[in-house]
Amino acid sequence: MEKTQREEKWNEEEQAEVDIWKYILGFTEMAVVRCAIELGIADAIESHGSPMTLSELSSTLGCDPSPLYRIMRFLMHRGIFKGTLNSQGSPGYAQTPLSRRLMKHGEHSMAALILLESSPVMLTPWLSLSARVLADGTSSFEVAHGEDIWSYSASNPAHGQLINEAMACDARVIVPAMIHGCPEVFDGLSSLVDVGGGNGKTLKVLVKAFPWLRGINFDQPHVVSVAGVISGVENVGGDMFESVPKADAAFLKWVLHDWGDNECIQILKKCREAVLENKGKFSYPIHSTDNSHRLIGMVLIKTLVSINGYLAYENPTRVPKPSS
Ligand SMILES: C[S@@+](CC[C@H](N)C(=O)[O-])C[C@H]1O[C@@H](n2cnc3c(N)ncnc32)[C@H](O)[C@@H]1O
Repeated sequence: MEKTQREEKWNEEEQAEVDIWKYILGFTEMAVVRCAIELGIADAIESHGSPMTLSELSSTLGCDPSPLYRIMRFLMHRGIFKGTLNSQGSPGYAQTPLSRRLMKHGEHSMAALILLESSPVMLTPWLSLSARVLADGTSSFEVAHGEDIWSYSASNPAHGQLINEAMACDARVIVPAMIHGCPEVFDGLSSLVDVGGGNGKTLKVLVKAFPWLRGINFDQPHVVSVAGVISGVENVGGDMFESVPKADAAFLKWVLHDWGDNECIQILKKCREAVLENKGKFSYPIHSTDNSHRLIGMVLIKTLVSINGYLAYENPTRVPKPSS
């Protein structure tokens, strides 16, 4: 073997020795971020209004500075918080756009989504991913919990509430982007049914932007029964496989990916029956269709684990080329 080839091989070996640790300890990032949310680190710094020293932060949170120091060091290394001097010239921790997404409330909060995905209920199915690949199409969630995610949520209201809060985080980001990017979708409509609308947070944002719109938040009875009152939005419980309330247009967000082809056809037929002739519109926001995007790769795997679904742009016959 040429010397350069030997060196290249050796470099690959060395790189592999480093890279393998990403997989050995890959869960650490999720665990530390979850810990930061539970402790309320970003909320404490935000209420303080200026950078916080370690001792200020540890006394506000009521914890020992030593483990907190390690947590903060990890989070700063990932750029989640930044180090800066406070007005007395002492080193402190300051917020970043990313840390604001770890706040429990607020327009940028994604905390509920992280708490949902890192919960034991949602993590357990990931540990049987190989069984899902080998088996007959039962989702890992069903294997782990004995029922699908929606039946499980019906019998475990705390988990259902976590799902609704998590989906509301997404609505706060996506719906304003839609209103800004394609307001014409809502032209000429006086009513809109959000099919599988969860706790109605999507419609809350839509009726605020288009006050002439009457919103119908349609979801399973146990979901709408705890959805709360939103001005301009009527909560209706039912089963989208049976019928969908009538409206000028039907809106679906993060719903069709939960189901296989036949169920999607059934849902869309019920939406078609619900929308009024001559006026009817369907709206199904798709975040991205770029298969090479890393996030889409993760979502595709997630559809195997937690649900029994399929993404419209997933093409099982297309095998990715090895990267050069
Ligand atoms: C992933 S959530 C999406 C929630 C909401 N559209 C959003 O994007 O925030 C899917 C929703 O579908 C609802 N769902 C599941 N099965 C349903 C059914 N048979 N009829 C009506 N809604 C259903 C669930 O209760 C859940 O709220």
